[in-house]
This record gives sequence, C-alpha cells and structure tokens, in this order.
Amino acid sequence: MAFRRIRDNSFYCFLAGCAITSVYFLCVSYSTSSQLQLRNYSNLSKHYSQICNQWKSELEMRHTKNIANVTNDENTYYDEEETKNLLDDYFTCDSIPKYKYIVQRGQYYAIFNFVQAEKEVGCTETITLTAPGDYRFLDNVAPLVERWRGPVSIALYAPGHDFYTTLQAIAYVRQCENRLIKDLVSFHVFFDINHVPIPRNETHILDTYTDTYNCSIPPPWETLTDLDMYKTNNSLLYPINTARNIAKLAARTYFQFPSDIELYPTRNFIQLFLNFVKNNLNLFGQDSKNVFVLPIFEIFEDQAVPENKTALQKMLKSNTAILFHQKMCALCHRVINGENWVLANETKGLGVFSVGKRQGRYMVWEPFFICTQKEPLWDERMTWEGQKNKMIQAYTMCIMDYNFYVLDNAFLIHKPGIKKEKLQMTKFKNEVKKSNQLIVDISVELQRMYGENKNCSTSYKGKIVKVKVKKSIL
Ligand SMILES: *[C@@H]1O[C@H](CO)[C@@H](O)[C@H](O)[C@H]1NC(C)=O
Ligand SMILES: *[C@@H]1O[C@H](CO)[C@@H](O)[C@H](O)[C@H]1NC(C)=O
Ligand SMILES: *[C@@H]1O[C@H](CO)[C@@H](O)[C@H](O)[C@H]1NC(C)=O
Ligand SMILES: *[C@@H]1O[C@H](CO)[C@@H](O)[C@H](O)[C@H]1NC(C)=O
Ligand SMILES: *[C@@H]1O[C@H](CO)[C@@H](O)[C@H](O)[C@H]1NC(C)=O
Ligand SMILES: *[C@@H]1O[C@H](CO)[C@@H](O)[C@H](O)[C@H]1NC(C)=O
Ligand SMILES: *[C@@H]1O[C@H](CO)[C@@H](O)[C@H](O)[C@H]1NC(C)=O
Ligand SMILES: *[C@@H]1O[C@H](CO)[C@@H](O)[C@H](O)[C@H]1NC(C)=O
Ligand SMILES: *[C@@H]1O[C@H](CO)[C@@H](O)[C@H](O)[C@H]1NC(C)=O
Repeated sequence: MAFRRIRDNSFYCFLAGCAITSVYFLCVSYSTSSQLQLRNYSNLSKHYSQICNQWKSELEMRHTKNIANVTNDENTYYDEEETKNLLDDYFTCDSIPKYKYIVQRGQYYAIFNFVQAEKEVGCTETITLTAPGDYRFLDNVAPLVERWRGPVSIALYAPGHDFYTTLQAIAYVRQCENRLIKDLVSFHVFFDINHVPIPRNETHILDTYTDTYNCSIPPPWETLTDLDMYKTNNSLLYPINTARNIAKLAARTYFQFPSDIELYPTRNFIQLFLNFVKNNLNLFGQDSKNVFVLPIFEIFEDQAVPENKTALQKMLKSNTAILFHQKMCALCHRVINGENWVLANETKGLGVFSVGKRQGRYMVWEPFFICTQKEPLWDERMTWEGQKNKMIQAYTMCIMDYNFYVLDNAFLIHKPGIKKEKLQMTKFKNEVKKSNQLIVDISVELQRMYGENKNCSTSYKGKIVKVKVKKSIL
C-alpha cells in the first residue's frame, strides 16, 4: 500500500487505499484541536479518483527515472514512500534499539526509550528533532510537535523524586494534549548514579510508568516551583550535554536535528528538507563535512510565532522580533551573511542561502543545524549553569573543517518572550568561571587530537564582546 500526503486546505490527507474501482480518502486533521480527527472523503470520489490516477501514472513514470529528474516543486504531491525508497539507496541507519534499556553514561544512569512514541519511523523517511530538558519544559512539547510533525526525541533529567514528577508530566502531555505527542515523541530519562529514584509501591524504576492522567488536574509544571525540585534541594547541576547526547543517540533516523525544546521550527520543514536532499545528493556523501543551519530569532511575549519568512521579516521591521540573544551574545547566533538573509525575500521551496566556516567573524558562532549520527556530540563535562555548553562541539567542527550551509526559507523561533540576562551570570558565577577554564583545557585536548587550526576559536578575542546590531540591517 502506498501512502501519500496531500495538503488539502488545513488537512493532511493520507491516501490509504487506491484500488481500481474505489478510492478511500482519509483526512487527518491535526490543526487546532488536540484530537485526531478522521474524515472520510470518499464521497468526493470523482475528484480524488482523478488525483489518484494522475498520481499512479506519475509514480510509475518516476520510478523509471533517475534522481536528476525529481522536482522539488512544493506543489507537486509529496510522496513519503517514494522519497524513502529513493533515499534508502543512499543512506543507511545503524540499528538503534526501540526497547527500554539502561546504560551508564559517566556519573549518570540513562533509561533509553522510557516512554516510546507509538509511530514507527523508517531511516530516511523523516527527520528526528532531538532536545534536552527536564519536566519544567514539557509545556513546549505540544507547540513544538504541532509544527515539526515528525519524530521527536527528548531526554529528561530526573534525579531522585523529580523522576516521579517527570512521569506525571509525560503522562499529562500524552493524555491531555495533542495526540501527535503520543505518536511522535519518545522520552528518555536519566539521573545521577548517586540520586537513583527510590522505588514506590514495590515497583522497580524501569516498570514504574503508567500511561494515565486525570486531565482536570493541572500539569506539574504549573503547580510546582523550583523549590519543590529534588534537583534544587540537592544543589545538583543540570547536565544539559548528557541530555543532548542521549536524545540524539536515541534517534533512529539518518537525518537529525539537535535542537532545544523551546525552539519552534518553520512548518513543513521535514518534507522541504528531504526534497532538498534528493536534489543535492552531492552534499551528503559519506565523507562530506556539511551541516545545514536554521537561523534563529526571538519574538516578544505577546506575539504569535510567524508562519513563514515573509511574516518574520515584517516582525523584524516592526521590532516585534529580534535576532536570538541579540541582547546577550549576538555574535553567538549570527549566521553567515545574516544581514542579507533577513533582507532577502522568501522564495519557493528550500535552498541554501550562504555557506561558510565557523571562522573569522563567525568564530564564536553556536549554530543549530540538521546533521547525521556522525557529527560530534557535546562534551558532557559542561553544564547548563556553566554556560557556553555548545561551544566545544562547534569548536571541534571548526577544527574538522566543517562547512555550514545556511538554509534560506527555514528558521527557528524561540518560545515568545525575550531573554535579557542569564540567571547563570549572577546565580552561578562560579560555575561559569569553571566552565571557561574547562573550555580552554578541552580545546588544548582537541588540538592534540585533531591538530591545530589558528582560525578556530572558543572565545571572541578572549573576552565577551557586546555587539550593537544596527537597526538598518533589519
Ligand atoms: C464529504 O465528506 C466530508 C467529510 O465527512 C464532508 O465534510 C463533506 O461535506 C462531504 N461532501 C459531500 C459533497 O457530501
Ligand atoms: C469511506 O466512505 C465510503 C463511501 O461512503 C465507504 O464505502 C468506505 O468504506 C469508507 N471508508 C472507510 C475507511 O471508512
Ligand atoms: C529526464 O527525463 C527525460 C524524459 O522526461 C529523459 O529524456 C532524460 O534523460 C532525463 N534526465 C536525466 C538526467 O536522466
Ligand atoms: C502508589 O500507590 C498509591 C496508593 O496506593 C497511589 O496513590 C500512587 O499513585 C501510587 N504511585 C505510583 C507511582 O504508582
Ligand atoms: C479528576 O480530578 C477532578 C478534580 O480534582 C476530580 O473531581 C475527579 O473526580 C477526578 N476524576 C477521576 C476519574 O479521578
Ligand atoms: C530538602 O532536603 C532536606 C534535607 O536535606 C529535606 O529535609 C527536605 O524534605 C527536602 N525537601 C524537599 C522538597 O525535597
Ligand atoms: C505567510 O504567513 C502569513 C500568516 O502569518 C500568511 O498570511 C501568508 O499568506 C503566508 N505567506 C506565504 C508565502 O505562505
Ligand atoms: C521583495 O518583495 C517585495 C514585496 O513583495 C518587492 O517589492 C521587492 O521587489 C522584492 N525584492 C526582490 C529583490 O525581489
Ligand atoms: C585561516 O584563515 C585565512 C584567512 O581567511 C585563510 O587564508 C587560511 O587558509 C585559513 N587557515 C586554515 C588552516 O584554515
């Protein structure tokens, strides 16, 4: 049976059956309601049988053609099955387990696939978004999945009794929010070896989760404060890079998007990117060192997340959106030729806007990008409190001479609300100091292993530089 996705107004339609005499059209609406809605459009069989026949002959034709003839026109019907078959010829995935299992990572135990997404995904048919977090961030899961509409892998830090709160939060999002969450989101949990949760009700930790929640009761992140957390009470640091690594290692697709749970991507990204891959296979060789960057922006608290680049540009002009961390570390998120990126009009489909290395004026860039399992992980000695926790990975990729391709029409929007200063700079000064030293030490280690490249850096001329971003560039 072939599946094909057709956009029909706000519906995504899966052609579930295509027989000679009849066509069954089931339209799944994820739009605004949290319930999955099934509609049977078979009554319109005339219209759809036309589509079906057209599609069948197209499909037969395309199978005999080679890649160069595949179009990336976003108005042609996108065929998941076909993309998958095509890309399967080029990319293979390691077999990553689907079942629940415990591994030790440094001073932590991680339970992979603690609560597993229900939908199976193939190696090349989609892209997995991976993100670190703890239960306090799970309010972002619904808006994130609603936009991403592909597999999501989240690793949650859950020491001591935070583990039980985390289970509640997972059950809440699965039972009381968008049905897509149950289908698409996998949750992994981890905790310190010295802070293993105490089993309750004579059930061991591995089997504790029950997939039920009384939805009239608000989720834990609304009723609890940081002071209720085991983590806070025990002065534990948030091992954000361990979380990033677990989430990424658990992903079962070839292409992966290591992101943050509070960053909302542009819609329809997965299809557009896979089409881009199809048309640019030369960029995706086994030995290629290429990653694909999405520029990132912040919007004010009362603003709606822009749906496309045109809408974003309007917001930049009216100052309701700004570059990410413009007020803290603008340099860390300045994409290559970003000044012109914001000026360039939106085009059809998805392509590359600019390409470059993480050098020169981009030497402290901490980009977010689409990559694969082969790109370097994050150093697990770094913490959230210590900041600059993505710097080492970016530095490693600079030494390895990676190319950063900036995509043209796709971008990320941080959850509405502008951050002005970081808690880390005041409350965790000592951790920041330790981290800065650690970065210096680690970069020496890396130079020993990869060789030195004087163009690569972990700090901007040794100090934090405040950049004034000219209004005129927006
Ligand atoms: C066909 O079915 C859909 C979904 O049930 C319904 O919304 C639509 O009005 C129907 N159209 C006709 C022509 O009966
Ligand atoms: C959809 O509706 C058609 C005609 O109304 C019916 O024959 C068919 O069985 C229905 N398909 C499904 C999957 O419900
Ligand atoms: C593209 O398709 C045409 C027929 O439509 C064929 O003649 C041509 O050889 C194909 N292009 C390539 C690069 O194979
Ligand atoms: C343990 O049992 C108590 C009472 O029997 C119940 O209220 C609680 O929800 C249970 N906890 C878990 C984690 O199953
Ligand atoms: C769900 O919670 C509400 C509010 O606390 C309570 O009134 C209701 O009885 C609960 N429902 C079930 C099935 O436990
Ligand atoms: C915090 O830790 C103290 C002991 O260190 C303990 O008495 C108290 O109950 C803990 N509070 C919470 C909310 O875990
Ligand atoms: C962009 O999004 C806005 C709504 O935010 C919509 O009105 C507009 O049609 C969209 N433009 C394109 C090119 O999709
Ligand atoms: C960009 O779009 C605007 C408004 O649609 C148009 O006036 C302008 O000419 C376009 N610029 C370019 C370079 O295409
Ligand atoms: C460092 O940058 C300079 C100037 O951009 C360039 O000429 C040189 O090749 C670079 N060196 C390395 C090792 O990449």
